[in-house]
This record gives sequence, C-alpha cells and structure tokens, in this order.
Amino acid sequence: MEMNFKIFRFDSEKDKEPYYSHYTVDAEPWERLLDCLNRIKWEQDGTLAFRMSCAHGVCGSDAMKINGRCALACQKLVKDYQGSEVVLEPLPTFKVLKDLIVDLTPFFERVEWVRPYLIAAGFPEKERLQSPEERKKVDEVIRCILCASCVGACPVSNENDKYIGPAQIVQAFRRIFDSRDQEKTERLKQLDYPDGVWACVNYFECTRACPKEIPVTKSINKIKREIEKLLR
Ligand code: SF4
Ligand code: FES
Repeated sequence: MEMNFKIFRFDSEKDKEPYYSHYTVDAEPWERLLDCLNRIKWEQDGTLAFRMSCAHGVCGSDAMKINGRCALACQKLVKDYQGSEVVLEPLPTFKVLKDLIVDLTPFFERVEWVRPYLIAAGFPEKERLQSPEERKKVDEVIRCILCASCVGACPVSNENDKYIGPAQIVQAFRRIFDSRDQEKTERLKQLDYPDGVWACVNYFECTRACPKEIPVTKSINKIKREIEKLLR
C-alpha cells in the first residue's frame, strides 16, 4: 500500500525555521513505521535524520511524535495508519538537533541525579536475593527503556522545565521499592519538593504514552503516599 508521510525538518546548524517534507513510500500492512522511515532515508532522502537501533522496542531510541502522540516508530504498524497521512515530529519539550533527533542530555542528567542504581553498604558474602513478593513490587517499572516518551507527552514537563520528570520518577521508584536498596528515606526526601513528585497533577499522558505499559502516574502517586507515610 502507498503511505504518505509529512516529516518535521530542521537543522539547528543551518535552518532559521523548521519546515515539513512530504514523502510517499510503498509498504506492507505488517511493516512498522520505522521500516518506512528507513526506506525514505535509504531510497529517497539521505539527509533525513532520526535515531534508531534495535527496531524491536528495546533500546528506546526512536521515540517521536506520531500523529500528535509520543510513541516508538518501531512499535507502530503501517496497517493502523492506512488511508491517512502520517505526521512525524520530534519529541516535544526537548531541543531539536536535527529533524527527528532531539538533545536528550538534560533527560539523562536528571536520570543520573536520581541515582539509578542500587545503594547497599558493604560486600555481602552471598548474592542479595529477593523473594518473588519483593520483586513483584518493581516488576512493572523495571520495564522502563528510558525512551523519554513520557516526558515528551507530559503537559507539566512541557510547561515547567524544572519538573524532574516522569521517567526519572519511574527510575527512582525502581530503587525506592527495591528490598535491597538502603537509601529509601533519602530517595524519598530527594523527590519531596514542588518540582519533584508534587509537580505531577495526574494528567495521565505519561501512562498513555509509555510503550512499555508502565503505570507511570500510579507509580508517582505511590511515591507521594510513601512520602506522606514516612516523612510527615
Ligand atoms: S516510563 Fe515508559 S515512556 Fe517513560 S522513559 Fe520509561 S519506557 Fe519510556
Ligand atoms: S529502535 Fe529501539 S526501541 Fe525502537
């Protein structure tokens, strides 16, 4: 089938204003939008810039705005866009470097700030094991691939650049509720400020956008309740 694309273009090194390019490609219904993007780049316009790597929803690099919704191009099937023009734009909130590529440096700096690793004193003689019940508490958030779709979709992140961000809170949740981590109280204190968890006002856009179906808003609210319980 013939697929029509309207794609955001902007080169921060030479363009004054963004513009859109139009392309038509032949695609099978079972192919992904990422396959179409690759075909456009390889066969029609080598100047088009976008990120991709795994093509299977694992690396999180091809998050973009697809017909107004933040998503992974490798997880969207051509058949679901049949008969309509597909508009591809860069993730909102972030600075555009080139076309669909945004600068994720501030995103990863904030991930780093929440200390996305287990903190436990000493070197144990045995592996630190968890019971199935303990592990279940982090089962959902452990799926996060740091694609930044939730941040792009979040109305608060779009208006308040000081908001720590949903993905970063998911990363913190992963450690706060991990039975092996010993910094729970410090981690809760770190998020307990107006632009931390309290900036979230439950739009649920992060949850709708998350390609790994993580209950992002629910996780943020669970941290809020834990702060109320342990720090007040
Ligand atoms: S929470 Fe979901 S949308 Fe946000 S970065 Fe992780 S995988 Fe992506
Ligand atoms: S290319 Fe890796 S998640 Fe889509």
